[in-house]
Amino acid sequence: MVDRVSAKDYTSYWEGLWADGLQAGQKFDAGRSAPVLQALLNQAGPACRGKTALVPGCGRGYDVLEFAQHGCTATGLEISKSATDAGERYADSCNLGPARELAQYQTGDFFHHLNQYDYGYDYTFMCSFVPEKRADWAEAWSKLIRPGGELITLIFPVGLGIPSPPPFDVTPEQYEELLIPKGFQKIVLEKLPAHLSHAPRAGKEYIGRWRKTAASL
Ligand SMILES: C[S@@+](CC[C@H](N)C(=O)[O-])C[C@H]1O[C@@H](n2cnc3c(N)ncnc32)[C@H](O)[C@@H]1O
Repeated sequence: MVDRVSAKDYTSYWEGLWADGLQAGQKFDAGRSAPVLQALLNQAGPACRGKTALVPGCGRGYDVLEFAQHGCTATGLEISKSATDAGERYADSCNLGPARELAQYQTGDFFHHLNQYDYGYDYTFMCSFVPEKRADWAEAWSKLIRPGGELITLIFPVGLGIPSPPPFDVTPEQYEELLIPKGFQKIVLEKLPAHLSHAPRAGKEYIGRWRKTAASL
């Protein structure tokens, strides 16, 4: 049974996983960026060039590189220094050419991060901390996305009931309940077509797209 002390901090848990040398394909690491992110950025085309993106809890940073390869300056933010190092090493190994410089990795806590971005991308991040911190999560996103910007939430795991979290289960409704009062407008909230998920997660994920409409409420 997990000790759900309010806002319990899992920093050392995550650092331990990464410091132990978590490999591509192990645990939550899917070994590549999410197919839906690639599809969305392809669809956006030149519109995302020159924009900025924040990917908190980016792990090895596959999604950070996806943004960078579409011309977006992308910041992968990780609480674990070992994850940041793994992300840097992975990015260096990918021979990305000029896109490499658009991918930046920072060690830091999302809940204390200060900046503003055109895009936010939240995948297997809200599930990584205790539910008691979710209101703070929404508050943080409301400050981190500039008015007119977009937060993309890829929602997983839903209803898996993992016996010893993290990851903690999430639901699409929770994202809506948390984000709408913080000045986000729903663009899309729906089940993701199976072909747009990592194969083992097909049929189990939801996509939310949220437009930041106003300064923080
Ligand atoms: C479930 S993993 C997902 C990693 C990545 N999104 C992926 O799909 O491979 C959650 C990640 O969030 C990071 N993390 C947890 N709390 C964080 C925080 N407060 N700020 C930044 N990163 C955090 C952990 O170190 C971990 O790598």
